[in-house]
Amino acid sequence: MEVFDAVETRKSVRAYSSTPVPKEKLDRVIESGRLAPSAMNLQPWHFIIVHDTGKREEMSKARYAKFLKESPVVIVGCGDRKSSPKWFAIDTTIALQNMVLTATSEGLGTCWIGSFDEDMIRNLLKIPDHLTVVAMLAVGYPRKKLDLAATVIRSGSRKPAKDIVSVEEYGAKDER
Ligand SMILES: Cc1cc2nc3c(=O)[nH]c(=O)nc-3n(C[C@H](O)[C@H](O)[C@H](O)COP(=O)(O)O)c2cc1C
Repeated sequence: MEVFDAVETRKSVRAYSSTPVPKEKLDRVIESGRLAPSAMNLQPWHFIIVHDTGKREEMSKARYAKFLKESPVVIVGCGDRKSSPKWFAIDTTIALQNMVLTATSEGLGTCWIGSFDEDMIRNLLKIPDHLTVVAMLAVGYPRKKLDLAATVIRSGSRKPAKDIVSVEEYGAKDER
């Protein structure tokens, strides 16, 4: 799959089948995060792969994360504040987005999760103090189901390019 096709076809998946994610696919997803760029190549990240049903059940108690109960894998992206105080969140996010696009190209669904109680996740996964939980990803095979939340949230679609892009200076439009 071309990169742009993955960018274009990806959407947040909030209903998952119980089919396990094959190890080689998950390895490829993780590898694409490992290869991500980072400021000064500090790689200030750590990823915790959660399969355990009990742990996912706990994570799914957050308001907008109910589907973590059914997604067979959750990737918890942690950023190392100590090694890169300025860039840890951006670097970890870039690595996670590499994983999202690779998962898409592997036929997997994903959803970013920002709905979590950091202290709860920290205790649950025994995360040391120097790491911040930046975001999590649900990963698994999409289950066909009317996903009302996705329909409502996506109905706003995307802002038009003319509203978010300037050329040469802020507010100037492309006259070509
Ligand atoms: C940083 C971040 C955090 C998000 N957190 C959640 C979340 O906790 N629960 C959820 O259902 N969707 C979450 N989303 C998904 C967004 O709602 C979704 O990306 C957006 O509505 C656009 O829809 P699309 O991903 O299908 O294109 C999050 C997305 C990002 C980038």
